Amino acid sequence: MFPKLRSARWFDRDDDVGFNHRASLRSEGFTPKAFSGKPVIGICNSWSELNNCNLHLRTVADAVKRGVWAAGGFPLEFMTISLGEELMMPTAMLYRNLMAMDVEEMIRSHPLDGVILLCGCDKTTPAQLMGAASMDIPAIVVPGGPMLNARWRNQTLGSGTDLWKKWDERRAGRMDDKQWHELEGAIARGPGHCMTMGTASTMTSLAEALGMTLPGCANIPAVDSRRYAAAEASGREILKAIEQDLRPSRIMTAKAFENAIRVFAALGGSTNAVIHLVAIARRLGIDLPLRRFDELAASTPTIANVQPSGKYLMEDFYFAGGLPALMREILPLLHKDELTVTGQTIAENLENAECHDQDVIRPVTNPLYGNGSLAVLYGNLAPRGAVIKTSAASKQLMQHVGRAFVFDNYDEMLQLCEDPDLDVDENSVLVLKNGGPVGGPGMPEWGQIPIPTKLLKKGVKDMVRISDSRMSGTSYGTVVLHISPEAAIGGPLAAVRTGDLIHLDVPRRELTLEVSDSELKRRMTHWHPGKRRYSRGYYTMFLEHVLQADMGCDFDFLQGQPADVPYEPIVGRS
Ligand code: FES
Repeated sequence: MFPKLRSARWFDRDDDVGFNHRASLRSEGFTPKAFSGKPVIGICNSWSELNNCNLHLRTVADAVKRGVWAAGGFPLEFMTISLGEELMMPTAMLYRNLMAMDVEEMIRSHPLDGVILLCGCDKTTPAQLMGAASMDIPAIVVPGGPMLNARWRNQTLGSGTDLWKKWDERRAGRMDDKQWHELEGAIARGPGHCMTMGTASTMTSLAEALGMTLPGCANIPAVDSRRYAAAEASGREILKAIEQDLRPSRIMTAKAFENAIRVFAALGGSTNAVIHLVAIARRLGIDLPLRRFDELAASTPTIANVQPSGKYLMEDFYFAGGLPALMREILPLLHKDELTVTGQTIAENLENAECHDQDVIRPVTNPLYGNGSLAVLYGNLAPRGAVIKTSAASKQLMQHVGRAFVFDNYDEMLQLCEDPDLDVDENSVLVLKNGGPVGGPGMPEWGQIPIPTKLLKKGVKDMVRISDSRMSGTSYGTVVLHISPEAAIGGPLAAVRTGDLIHLDVPRRELTLEVSDSELKRRMTHWHPGKRRYSRGYYTMFLEHVLQADMGCDFDFLQGQPADVPYEPIVGRS
């Protein structure tokens, strides 16, 4: 039996207001039998032709609807804004909070008893989880799944990761126009999100690790029929979740977030997930300090042999057993009794999980990387922390002292990296300022600063790079990111000058600018924030309310406990 339904506030009233609510559904051609007394399931769809990764989600929504009808619910699909990584400028991250607000307000303002969240491309998953966490009605995530492996000539290629390599080959003059244009038509074979362990694969996997998807749902390839079967099953399951009052706050507990951090480390996941997990957790009033990421990652082996940390792609990962196989392998490290949207615990969900390829999902006794895939660094350059993806970095650069070469902004960086006379060598530390939440704005993925062309031609493949920016989850290299506080609000990064010595010591978790405190103070007395380039609309709200990376880059006014819902609908008369 269903508890008293939230939608009853809209429909179960014998007055003109209830009449209008029912009449609006009948105007869509539904008979009262189709919806009377049934739980209304919102299908929150991030489909958009501006977002190729989510292009198949209308079809996925149809499969969800089948499941909802079959289980006695009443499905209604609605769209929110969608965030496609490739076409949005300057960065989809600028709009993650806007989408989260869209999701939250669409749920709040409509007669929904439960919601299915259809996501895929990087920011769509955290945005939906943030909105659903705030509204706290039963919710199940159905990711769109990864694209098929890319194939070009005789090569299997991964999104992002192989593109960066090919781009470096082209910059070094080793790839001609014909090859380059041919590659453009081959790198993405159809709908679905990036098929490396980038941000999309990481975040959809973490939605599963948090308990917010059906087990095994996250990694099914986008075009595989099992993707649609999982969607249909999720449509049925949401009805049970409503019966059992399985709200996000009961699933995404502090312990569930610790599970997600463990899984993140075992996956060698995208550094962007650190920001997103913090933001989702804070919506539920859970504090996730960066130090906790470091502690948990340090004692979790990286066992997913998937690009950019490893060799394979998501299709291989799925056929090797996918996330259930990985989670089962690290089960002793997880909080096993955490509840999931199935009403069962993590351990119960994983009972039948099997690994079918131990080179793709390694046993913990033979990990890809034993010491944690992520480290959190502190020091006079990053008082509130910075992160480095150690599993995608160069071992020989983990302890490094080098002379800084500073780029004051992104345009300067792009221009100077092509300068054949740039005063850098392979030991230099490349520094980018003003790429943070306020500086970008929106903290774009500028952190994987290109290796200057003159060094690329000499065969240099990696250098220490530091910034207050993010990098794509498909990127790699010895790249220190998310320096907090950022340069644009007067963080110590703003004081760095070309020629300063910077000391990176990952084993000691330190990032140090070898400049005295008094000199740093002196430099900052002459520092002024840059002139604001944006003075209206969403940009203004963003710049005034965005929090720093260590706080998840959410808006300050969206933090805290789940929001309440209106007790009575407020109806406008037209
Ligand atoms: Fe959408 Fe990579 S561009 S997931």
